[in-house]
Amino acid sequence: MRKQIVAGNWKMNNDYVDSELFVSKLLKELKHTTTEVIIAPPFTSLLASSNSVKGSQVIVAAQNMHFAENGAYTGEVSAAMLKSVGVKTVILGHSERRAYFNESDDLLAKKVNTALAHGMRSIFCFGEELEDRKSGNEEAIVGAQIKNALFHLPAAAWEHIVLAYEPVWAIGTGETASPEQAQDMHAFIRETVAKKYSKKLAEDVSILYGGSVKPANAKEIFSKPDVDGGLIGGAALDVEQFLAIINAF
Ligand code: 13P
Repeated sequence: MRKQIVAGNWKMNNDYVDSELFVSKLLKELKHTTTEVIIAPPFTSLLASSNSVKGSQVIVAAQNMHFAENGAYTGEVSAAMLKSVGVKTVILGHSERRAYFNESDDLLAKKVNTALAHGMRSIFCFGEELEDRKSGNEEAIVGAQIKNALFHLPAAAWEHIVLAYEPVWAIGTGETASPEQAQDMHAFIRETVAKKYSKKLAEDVSILYGGSVKPANAKEIFSKPDVDGGLIGGAALDVEQFLAIINAF
């Protein structure tokens, strides 16, 4: 079922102590909401955060994981390891993973498969670069990213998939896609999924927007019919700003 979601991707910020302080403040100030609230701390804080949010409406996600079950992959973390600390949602395909760690569509398809095999939910990220948009190729790029990493999945798997459109040119730049640009792309994404699977399946998928979402622009972006929430970077590091974005729905 399509849900409204606000997810905070902390990236490489917040050590163990900072994470605990953030979570306790968030839990104290968060009013009951029908919006799903997700935080994605770094690996070193996952166990503590996941224990701290128990019994609350906040969900803890990981920012990445490896596709293999276990083995000689120095520095990597597996799906089973995430589950062992209570984490059942994972962000996959973030543009920073694609750009700095060479994660390809093929590799991401494997990660999505592993997440599914473990009953985990993927928040699958994709988005075009500035040059792609300037040359009018944004839909071709986004369409290919979705197709290459996700269109091998059976329809039933899609209940474990959340899509996150994050135009690379809007991440951490202060430059947001306009609400119309976000809506146009989200509608295209939904239509692409509908063509491959069904209208019903596409209507049920949550599609988040990410890229310089702030309290000042969240309401307008979230008001668009195909925007089901946000994946927030910088503004999710500040409890007050994160709460204001959650409350923008
Ligand atoms: P910013 O909100 O800092 O632009 O980051 C967006 C993002 O990359 C979330 O995953």
